[in-house]
Amino acid sequence: MMSSIHDVCGSVLSHIPGVGSSASPEHGKVLCVGLACLDSIHVVKTFPVEDTDVRCVSVRLQRGGNASNNCTVLSQLGAPCEFLGTLSKKQYLSVVVDDFKAYNICINNCIYYEACDAPMSVVIISQTTGSRTIIHSNKNLPELTLDDFKKLDMSQYSWIHFEGRNVEEVVSMIELVEFWNENHISEHDRGHGLGHKALPISIEIEKPRAEMQDLIPWADVLFIGKDFAEFCGCTNMSETLKKIAQDAKPNATIISAWGEQGAMARGHDGTVVQSPAFCPHKVLDTLGAGDTFCGAAIFGLSRGKSLQDSIILGCQIAGIKVGMDGFAGLDKACNHIMYGSGEL
Ligand SMILES: Nc1ncnc2c1ncn2[C@@H]1O[C@H](COP(=O)(O)OP(=O)(O)OP(=O)(O)O)[C@@H](O)[C@H]1O
Ligand SMILES: *[C@@H]1O[C@H](CO)[C@@H](O)[C@H](O)[C@H]1NC(C)=O
Ligand SMILES: *[C@@H]1O[C@H](CO)[C@@H](O)[C@H](O)[C@H]1NC(C)=O
Ligand SMILES: *[C@@H]1O[C@H](CO)[C@@H](O)[C@H](O)[C@H]1NC(C)=O
Ligand SMILES: *[C@@H]1O[C@H](CO)[C@@H](O)[C@H](O)[C@H]1NC(C)=O
Repeated sequence: MMSSIHDVCGSVLSHIPGVGSSASPEHGKVLCVGLACLDSIHVVKTFPVEDTDVRCVSVRLQRGGNASNNCTVLSQLGAPCEFLGTLSKKQYLSVVVDDFKAYNICINNCIYYEACDAPMSVVIISQTTGSRTIIHSNKNLPELTLDDFKKLDMSQYSWIHFEGRNVEEVVSMIELVEFWNENHISEHDRGHGLGHKALPISIEIEKPRAEMQDLIPWADVLFIGKDFAEFCGCTNMSETLKKIAQDAKPNATIISAWGEQGAMARGHDGTVVQSPAFCPHKVLDTLGAGDTFCGAAIFGLSRGKSLQDSIILGCQIAGIKVGMDGFAGLDKACNHIMYGSGEL
């Protein structure tokens, strides 16, 4: 069922806790919880054949990790944000920390480990297809714990995004946020848009693993990646939305992104909206396309944009991102979309 843009605008967001056109003008930070790692990125003309010896076109070290990339996108779009995760003091710390600082991303609450190895990914990007092949390693850096999370001052945030990993611990963190919500929104403030608003929780579920299913009932906004959708037996976006809705919160917003097919979303009342992908002249680098889509969509939703407009924004910005190498300059490349209409 496809509804018109106008049916959905306004009504959907007023049912996402804390989001809506009446959202307060002083925006709290968006908190992204998950992993930061070092990406060693090798750009090649064409993907190498096994057991051959090839040269790369270029190589670069880049701060990576999904929640960490999410912050890069949010920050480039002008949303104050914070990364929360564990970091290794043993290797590459300054590369990662300096880059967080360069993008003005708060890391004040991160947990440091002296003796553990930093997670690292080797990424091969093929210029012919724009594909990214990732070989990830994480030897012994501990995941964030509930106790680490408890130290946060929730009143600083306007939105919390979790990367779908470390499932059991993430569920207890979400329970803590729900408890906080219960205790900080007075009866008087409910529905009046005064004082503290409930913190919306978004979760990105992409990795094709059964345990990820346990996260579905916990989110106000769910981002379902193609890999996970296919793992659930779905072959297209509308099927994915229907299937995931069966296990999600009754009022959850569900968003399914599907590469060159763009994205589709289901609002709390079951209305469905869609955005095509926006293809650049040439696809150069799809690494972080999902992060970019998600970051831009969260930016839209957290600023009170409609679900339709938010996924269009996500696809537009992700389309620009896949047409460039890395993230540097994404802010300038997106200026006309973000500020051209003077709306955001
Ligand atoms: N080849 C492409 N051309 C244009 N847009 C694209 C392309 N690939 C991805 N996108 C955009 O990015 C969004 C997210 O795509 P998708 O979730 O498939 O990315 P991904 O491959 O999972 O990225 P990641 O590297 O972050 O895991 C899509 O909804 C689309 O808007
Ligand atoms: C980031 O997310 C993608 C898609 O879920 C996943 O394949 C990849 O392993 C993740 N990267 C890290 C470093 O966790
Ligand atoms: C999506 O997949 C379902 C199940 O395979 C199928 O019935 C439906 O027609 C498909 N929809 C589109 C738009 O391809
Ligand atoms: C879901 O939304 C409806 C209105 O559409 C509201 O009456 C109901 O309380 C909401 N349920 C939850 C769990 O937020
Ligand atoms: C975070 O990263 C994941 C994995 O790449 C991506 O799918 C998701 O859209 C991103 N979320 C944000 C808020 O950028």
